[in-house]
Amino acid sequence: MIAVEPQRIQSILEAYPPEKRFALAILQDIQHEFNYLPEGSLEVVSARIGTPVAQLFALATFYKALSLVPKGRHIIKVCDGTACHMCGSSSLLVAIKQLLALEPGGRTDDGQFSLECVNCVGSCALAPVMIIDDAYYAKVNTEKLALILDAYRPGGEHDE
Ligand code: FES
Repeated sequence: MIAVEPQRIQSILEAYPPEKRFALAILQDIQHEFNYLPEGSLEVVSARIGTPVAQLFALATFYKALSLVPKGRHIIKVCDGTACHMCGSSSLLVAIKQLLALEPGGRTDDGQFSLECVNCVGSCALAPVMIIDDAYYAKVNTEKLALILDAYRPGGEHDE
């Protein structure tokens, strides 16, 4: 049984020919639609394209862009590589916990934010680096952090 409206998944499935080679594209579309792969969705995809659920599960757990647990509307990534750690990424994580009651790997109760700790994102000169969705924020301190997060709260300028 699917945990969300089946017709939304059905319309994604119907956008592709029922062939195994579209497995990843279909999973990406479902992820995009729901911010995760809802319970039961792998079984429905499997029945449509003939790829075993175990293979779909392997894709879902291999690709970081796919998730089997609900993610927030906005995904915050705090780099905790060496340079960012030396420049205060730990303070950012503490401040995010205070501002949003959010810990790495978690999601806010309202579903607005998820938080992930990531390794070096290749912008060490800008440490500490934070990424929200696709936007990079450089040399983030706790003062900047509050302003940045406000823009992603419901109704904020980046809350699309
Ligand atoms: S350690 Fe954070 S960008 Fe390299």
